[in-house]
Amino acid sequence: MPASQPNQAASDRIHITRPDDWHLHVRDGQALDTVVPHTAAQFARAIIMPNLKPPVTTVEQALDYAARIRAAVPTGNPFTPLMTLYLTDRIAPQEIRRASATRSTGLGDMVVAAKLYPAGATTNSDAGVTDIRLIYPVLEAMQKEGLLLLVHGEVTSPDIDLFDREAVFIDQQLIPLRRDFPELRIVMEHITTKEAAQYIAEAGPHTAATITAHHLLFNRNAIFTGGIRPHYYCLPVLKREVHRQALVAAATSGDPHFFLGTDSAPHPAHLKEHASGCAGCYTAHAALEMYAQAFDETGALDRLEAFASFHGPDFYRLPRNSGSVTLERRAWQAPQAYPFGDAELKPLLGGELLPWKLLDR
Ligand code: NCD
Ligand code: ZN
Repeated sequence: MPASQPNQAASDRIHITRPDDWHLHVRDGQALDTVVPHTAAQFARAIIMPNLKPPVTTVEQALDYAARIRAAVPTGNPFTPLMTLYLTDRIAPQEIRRASATRSTGLGDMVVAAKLYPAGATTNSDAGVTDIRLIYPVLEAMQKEGLLLLVHGEVTSPDIDLFDREAVFIDQQLIPLRRDFPELRIVMEHITTKEAAQYIAEAGPHTAATITAHHLLFNRNAIFTGGIRPHYYCLPVLKREVHRQALVAAATSGDPHFFLGTDSAPHPAHLKEHASGCAGCYTAHAALEMYAQAFDETGALDRLEAFASFHGPDFYRLPRNSGSVTLERRAWQAPQAYPFGDAELKPLLGGELLPWKLLDR
């Protein structure tokens, strides 16, 4: 039927404004050489998580780290890392003012946010905050300076069931925090539950959330299909199908408070395939392809651009990117593993067919 052909063609290839990744782990040292080019091939900018060992707690450390990341970007690629500070019980408000100053010069790399890890919540979070009230002067400074607060939203108490830790965090920590700092821009990172999606949708103009591709594609069964599958283990952990559906609804709703953040979190394969395997899914090699698949499965490809390319910069008050990327409906297979320093990195869905492919720049 000739009349349907243009539609057919349009849905087999989509062009979107070049997107950004608003939550990313790239690690340090040799690991950068593997993972930074993957992200730089897809995204113009990425919010770089500060949970190194030791953590990135000063502006000086953040800017040095940015330089090491830039050194791993392929020549000619304009990728820009956006840096963050790791909040500890002892960080001084002065450091926030220094961070804020990096944004006003317009020269060099910027520190745009600080990350709150409840101590012990996830990978390299031991130095995190033990009690939010200890950092109230710092949050005051962030609110004043317009630095964003990025939150790993899980309580850490062993008494709370692992699958309930996000919902409990919202009630016990986030709601009081939101009330005490009404102008602070807060991003709840990598949300995984219907409770979080609902909270964000109703929390007003200064609260947003990132959503990963893997939480849109999988529910918790993926961790246990035919045996324990450590490459599907991340924190916050995958949840029930009802939660996955709520995340898909939020991501495809057009609500500007939801945007793309992969939480791509590389670990050496031998430390994931381990008696006490590390949390984190590596998705940077095929991030946009996975998001396209998730949006396509629910008939919402037309909503992908706003989620991936508009809502993030608008919330961060940064310019949207120019230029575009093209995704094509063409099955391909990602490698099973990449070299990762002296180890191997096994990407999520490595060796399996992905229905969408990002075309080269
Ligand atoms: C992240 C990591 O490995 O650094 N892991 C993860 O499971 N997502 C930390 C984090 O974002 O929680
Ligand atoms: Zn993360």
